[in-house]
Amino acid sequence: MKPMTTSPKGLFIKTYGCQMNVYDSERMADVLKPLGFVEVDSPEKAQLIVLNTCHIREKATEKVFSELGQIRRLKDEGDGDITIAVAGCVAQAEGEEIIRRQPAVDIVVGPQSYHKLPEMLAKTSRSIKDRLETDFAVADKFGAFSKIRDVKGPSAFLSVQEGCDKFCTFCVVPYTRGAEYSRSAADILTEAEGLVGQGVCEIVLVGQNVNAWHGVSGSVGEGGRRDQTEWDLGRLIRRLGQIDGLKRLRYTTSHPRDMNDSLITAHREVDSLAPFLHLPVQSGSDAILKAMNRGHSVTDYLHIIDRVRRARPDMSFASDFIVGFPGETDADFEGTLSLVREVGYSQSYAFKYSPRPGTPASDMDEEVEEAVKEERLSRLLTEISRQSRAFNLTMVGSTLQVLFTRRGKSEGQALGYSPHMQPVHVDGAEALIGRLCEVRVIAATGTSLSGRLLEETSSGRADFIEART
Ligand code: SAH
Ligand code: SF4
Ligand code: F3S
Repeated sequence: MKPMTTSPKGLFIKTYGCQMNVYDSERMADVLKPLGFVEVDSPEKAQLIVLNTCHIREKATEKVFSELGQIRRLKDEGDGDITIAVAGCVAQAEGEEIIRRQPAVDIVVGPQSYHKLPEMLAKTSRSIKDRLETDFAVADKFGAFSKIRDVKGPSAFLSVQEGCDKFCTFCVVPYTRGAEYSRSAADILTEAEGLVGQGVCEIVLVGQNVNAWHGVSGSVGEGGRRDQTEWDLGRLIRRLGQIDGLKRLRYTTSHPRDMNDSLITAHREVDSLAPFLHLPVQSGSDAILKAMNRGHSVTDYLHIIDRVRRARPDMSFASDFIVGFPGETDADFEGTLSLVREVGYSQSYAFKYSPRPGTPASDMDEEVEEAVKEERLSRLLTEISRQSRAFNLTMVGSTLQVLFTRRGKSEGQALGYSPHMQPVHVDGAEALIGRLCEVRVIAATGTSLSGRLLEETSSGRADFIEART
């Protein structure tokens, strides 16, 4: 590892896993900028390559080691001036084992230590101690990130909460991200206002259990005194909803146990809060939910969905499911299918259970055979796709507000997202990337919508813009 200078250097960050990692990758780029690092779009152009990794399933972890093998070749074939850093949850879980398994790795840095990257890069020592940073000091991390971010588009993630205390028996997150930590409301508001000031019109609040967020208001009142009122996520969303120019708010991912009245009613009261909720249930069997230590029953979950729907009738829902958890019987799995049919999701994710080292479920008996897992996954995915398609088809003929975020596949086309997180393609709208526009939906597939531009909401123009369709 060579010492870093301030002349411009290429930085390539590859991000795996969840939205927390996407946010962290952006913040790493911010932290490295003052050292002269400029983001590049391929590892070949980079002097510093960062893999921001995910440990959630075995496949995710193995992907990292195969990627490292490829990057190692770049380092061997080049002039040696390439630094390889492994960040994220694999870094936290495997620590120095990564350097042992792939000696080309220079730095291993866990999710709570990214602010220490400049210091680590400056060290010339090759000792493992100097190349490894996996402390759990999450307050330091947010404190050290600069308040002003380099915004890349109209939509931005804002991390409000880290870590997890729920300890679902299958999950590595409590071990890789540590205990639950909530940032202060004042900090979050400053960051949100800074983002909107730079042109962001959609903010996605992210956290491993985002709806467990709580904190003191921290706002400064008369006489310079700080308000010590305790806020929950519903209250924070109401406050964020008052920021001028912030047109759309989302939050992800939520836990059923933390869906309180304040958050549910925010869906009725805050116009900019999107009518979409990702609320993973994992299984539709009470016995499996108990073995997973989810802390709620199927009935509890359905009751929450019902309350949210009553607060906001056009609400759409997404979930995550695990099939083949140890001991899952055919009847348990049928329970999952029947829950899916009862809720009617707009989209969902389903995974085969993957035993993770150190988690209680990895020691459980009654492993489900791979072929059975496969079969259940395929049946569940068929039902999920059927529902997504049906949901998307209900949108044809309606008008939706679409936030265009990037170019589409064909010439002149723009891709955006509806309030329900559906991808929407609009031909001839490329010039509108970065804007929130009214779109008439003209067609739907199982995975996306296509539409015609009606009105450019963000500029208040009401004229009809006929687009090529
Ligand atoms: N905090 C979120 C989810 C975090 S992980 C929550 O509580 O819902 C994202 C998803 O990965 C989980 O919802 C779960 O469906 C899946 N997952 C986590 N551990 C897994 C494992 N060991 N095997 C298979 N899927 C897993
Ligand atoms: Fe993992 Fe459960 Fe925590 Fe979600 S709530 S991060 S699934 S332990
Ligand atoms: Fe993966 Fe870590 Fe997120 S394990 S899902 S990157 S919290």
